[in-house]
Amino acid sequence: MLKNFWYACEFSSSITNKPKQVLMFNQKFVLYRNSQGKIVALNDQCPHRGAAFSLGEIEKDCLRCPYHGWKFQADGECIEIPSNPPGTPIPKKAHVPTYPVEEKYGFIWLFYGDLPAEERPPLPSFPEYMVSTMRPVYDDSIDNANYARLMEANLDFTHVIAVHKKSFGQRIPINKPITYQVDKYDWGAVAQVNYESLGNSKSILNFLLGGRPELKTKLTLYLPNVTLAEINVGRGGRFDIKFGILVAHLPIDENTTRVKRVLYRNILPVPWLDGFFRKIDHKLAQEDTVVVSTLNSQTMPKISEEIHVAADALDITFRQFLQKSQVDYFPSSHEKDKQSIDMN
Ligand code: FES
Ligand SMILES: [Fe+2]
Repeated sequence: MLKNFWYACEFSSSITNKPKQVLMFNQKFVLYRNSQGKIVALNDQCPHRGAAFSLGEIEKDCLRCPYHGWKFQADGECIEIPSNPPGTPIPKKAHVPTYPVEEKYGFIWLFYGDLPAEERPPLPSFPEYMVSTMRPVYDDSIDNANYARLMEANLDFTHVIAVHKKSFGQRIPINKPITYQVDKYDWGAVAQVNYESLGNSKSILNFLLGGRPELKTKLTLYLPNVTLAEINVGRGGRFDIKFGILVAHLPIDENTTRVKRVLYRNILPVPWLDGFFRKIDHKLAQEDTVVVSTLNSQTMPKISEEIHVAADALDITFRQFLQKSQVDYFPSSHEKDKQSIDMN
């Protein structure tokens, strides 16, 4: 996993004035919304005996531990120990680590790292046409696969003809070479492939779209844990069908990922069809996961350890980022406990 980035970690709508646990990097975080509507994030572990704050309560913007009722401010300071007589000093180590958090595009972004505010990278910018005009549906699942391996599948132009051959892949020509350019930035990378035309020229869809439609697919990596697929079907006209598939991958441990997806669509933007589109999106996601979970090593191998072809260029770019600055470390629960004892 990568350090010193903003991780998309939860949907904004899931965070209320009740504490909620978020799992990432074998670590528990607790998030809640204070009375000003601002999100607060702390370690979800009380420094007294280690109970999870997420089972506790929010009192006047403070967290009350569910075990012995110690009370902590949003800045992590303990301000009350009910069993102590009034005036007893609070132990110095009664402090919980906190994390910077922001809200944007319906996601909560948690900064994981040690950079001061002025040195942190900006939050990503998603395409304006998508977030402001297209209708979103949301999906949330836990997948038994590594987060980077799942991201790689979402940055892969060639898997559609095999992994998705029974769903949308069947109309994509399979015998065309795929080469493309990767534009690399500090914040990630972008590439685009235009398939000349889709198969099945007698399709009603082709008639409506004015001839055999082109399929344009643009894939974007937003470091550290978000991918976006922009799919355009049509001939560049105003009736083109557009989808945006935005996916946040929360690395829980080496083999487990929480996947939070938003499917944007420009067609049939009526609420009663949201369930239908969510179901399709979920099915496509599971088609990926079924295969990705069988990979020999869930941990991302070094670039030199696998075979690559030209069409893997975007995945290689992602691997280069990981290889350059990956903190190759998911603390085990045991190590986590040790850290927390040291901290006290
Ligand atoms: S474990 Fe939190 S107050 Fe005791
Ligand atoms: Fe896929």
